[in-house]
Amino acid sequence: MASSDQIRLLLIEDVPQVAQYVRGLLMAQSQIKLLDVLTDGGRAATQIPELRPDVVIVDALLQGRVKGMQVVKQLHEGGAGLPVIVLTVPQQPVDPDPENGIHGVLSMPFSGYDLISRVSQARKDHDASGAGAASTMIAVFAPKGGVGKTTIAFNLAVAAAKLGSRTVLVDGSIQFADLRSLLRVPADAASILDLPTDRVSESDLAEVVWRDPSGIDILLAPPRLEMAEMVTPRDVEKVLSLLRRLYEVVIVDMSVALDELNLALFDRADTILEIVTYDSTTIHNTIALADTFRTIGYPPTKVRYLLNRADSNAGIGPDELTRALGRVPEYQVRSEGQIVVTANNQGVPFVLSNPEAGVSQDLERVAAALLLPQRTAVGAGAR
Ligand SMILES: Nc1ncnc2c1ncn2[C@@H]1O[C@H](COP(=O)(O)OP(=O)(O)O)[C@@H](O)[C@H]1O
Ligand SMILES: [Mg+2]
Repeated sequence: MASSDQIRLLLIEDVPQVAQYVRGLLMAQSQIKLLDVLTDGGRAATQIPELRPDVVIVDALLQGRVKGMQVVKQLHEGGAGLPVIVLTVPQQPVDPDPENGIHGVLSMPFSGYDLISRVSQARKDHDASGAGAASTMIAVFAPKGGVGKTTIAFNLAVAAAKLGSRTVLVDGSIQFADLRSLLRVPADAASILDLPTDRVSESDLAEVVWRDPSGIDILLAPPRLEMAEMVTPRDVEKVLSLLRRLYEVVIVDMSVALDELNLALFDRADTILEIVTYDSTTIHNTIALADTFRTIGYPPTKVRYLLNRADSNAGIGPDELTRALGRVPEYQVRSEGQIVVTANNQGVPFVLSNPEAGVSQDLERVAAALLLPQRTAVGAGAR
């Protein structure tokens, strides 16, 4: 934030009357300083570094070579990192969509109060989001069911909390709500569906998350299968940005599908933790998925392989697995049926119920390697 609290505003507007109206509204106050009015959207990219605004207002109806919404898109994709408010008319409604660079909307006619509060709010939200930028999001995925994804996501989240990170676990298996059955939460426990669909606030979230006795918060999926279609990928994305501001670690237990929601989750994740086992279907699907990730353009380091039940290689050897993955899996977790199944049946994490067990130590090593990269020696977590 600038040393002065005054907000530096840039207006991109080609209708002189509207520009004049905004100037008029800002005349008798000192909270917002109007730096300039650009009438040509094409000049935004070069003028912004020079003018250094805190907030930009763009008229959605801007004409010329670069139209209003194109300017918004360019500012967003150019990584300007600036809060942008879109000015529009009721006939052409625009929804706030921070994920796509629309941090606020002003619909004509608006008052001086509307203008000032919208601009201040946009900057406040922006500053708050910057503060939360230190969060880590880990998307736990597997190309096949039954390999231990939910078990690992849950125990990894608790291990992260043990390391001192404020942690939330998101049940991304929206249809089958795997965490509901694992934790055996009451059927009426709130889910992501109980959040408002427009703007989610911190207090809305506080009412909805499940506070697990293990020390983590859990955002549950809906209790019934047929409710899944009421949760859109956009709903999930919206709540994720809030979660990333409020928690240091966000872990998502994903579903197996390669659908719109999962592609969005992959995109937003810092790390995709992919669970593999010594099993030919898993290996086959992992190779196919690696191709997809390459096509999307993810750097190889975005994906980390976790070999679960690493000591039970029925027929398939480590060399074969390494050849298939193109590298040695970064992490390994051993098989310990007695401990894992007992803990799962009680709905407790084995990293708490059996902290001395080998499988718990493995999980804690994975958590440390993923979350404390500087403090951990290279190769930690792998055995
Ligand atoms: N490391 C492990 N050792 C022993 N059993 C495990 C291990 N990981 C998972 N399991 C067991 O495998 C089964 C499937 O695990 P789950 O987490 O539900 O998989 P997914 O979410 O991939 O479908 C469960 O019965 C679980 O107890
Ligand atoms: Mg599962």
